[in-house]
Amino acid sequence: MTATVCAEEPDYTRSYLADQHAGQLERLRTLERAFDPLSHAVFDQLDLPDKPAILDLGAGAGSLAGWLSRRYPEASVTATDVDTRFLADIPGIRVLEHNAATDDFPAACFDVVHARALLCHLPAREELLMRAITWLRPGGWLVIEDVSLEPSLKTANPLFGKVAQAGLTLLKQSIGSDMLWAATLPDRLRDRGLANVRHRSHEGRIGDNSPADAFWAATTAQAGPALLKLGLLTQEDLDDMTLLRADPGFTDVAMTFVSAWGQVR
Ligand SMILES: C[S@@+](CC[C@H](N)C(=O)[O-])C[C@H]1O[C@@H](n2cnc3c(N)ncnc32)[C@H](O)[C@@H]1O
Repeated sequence: MTATVCAEEPDYTRSYLADQHAGQLERLRTLERAFDPLSHAVFDQLDLPDKPAILDLGAGAGSLAGWLSRRYPEASVTATDVDTRFLADIPGIRVLEHNAATDDFPAACFDVVHARALLCHLPAREELLMRAITWLRPGGWLVIEDVSLEPSLKTANPLFGKVAQAGLTLLKQSIGSDMLWAATLPDRLRDRGLANVRHRSHEGRIGDNSPADAFWAATTAQAGPALLKLGLLTQEDLDDMTLLRADPGFTDVAMTFVSAWGQVR
């Protein structure tokens, strides 16, 4: 059976992952707890000017933007999102409602453009990479971080494999996400002429009570009704998956957190 998830164009803001869902803020917090330490380690490697202009695209609940304003007290930190409701109370940042897929910035106005867990969800991701490079000053850094779900497709556990494939299908059809492209990020940055391209990958497991496990569980729970509605999974599948995650004998790699960064010449 082929399920059609959405009759309209796929779009994050109308999807089961959008901010109007009751659990979205806490789900974003689980992502932040899993990914923030990895992002901090990337910024610690960047050589920035004294008063850098930093853009965080699709900043979500804003923990990284807030950290950037504390880490670089002289910086101007701009945090954007299509839905800025979770960014309102963060001190030290400029918040802009901005659609990264369609809205621009003037050329050469930032020293860093950062986007995390955003481009994988945007069908216009390739074009956005090109536009983001034009927003950078010479010597500026493009920092792209994304989640790949590729490891979950390689699991030997049939139930986890089924749930993972259903999640990928739902993400692709309802949002237009490509949850496998993160692994290609270093090559994409090199192909676009960036210098000093570096990258790091970190595996995220489930079934081990780690921050990645909490992020996976929160996202799967939020996707549950859509997965059931479309017949991609049954309630029994979801209940069995909950039991599997809680089984002390089970753990598996569910995702890779990929960070790639490079410098405009
Ligand atoms: C998975 S969350 C990641 C949030 C944040 N970057 C982080 O890693 O903690 C994706 C964010 O991108 C935002 N978003 C989705 N489509 C967008 C678009 N076209 N332009 C700007 N932001 C967008 C969503 O509203 C959401 O806040």
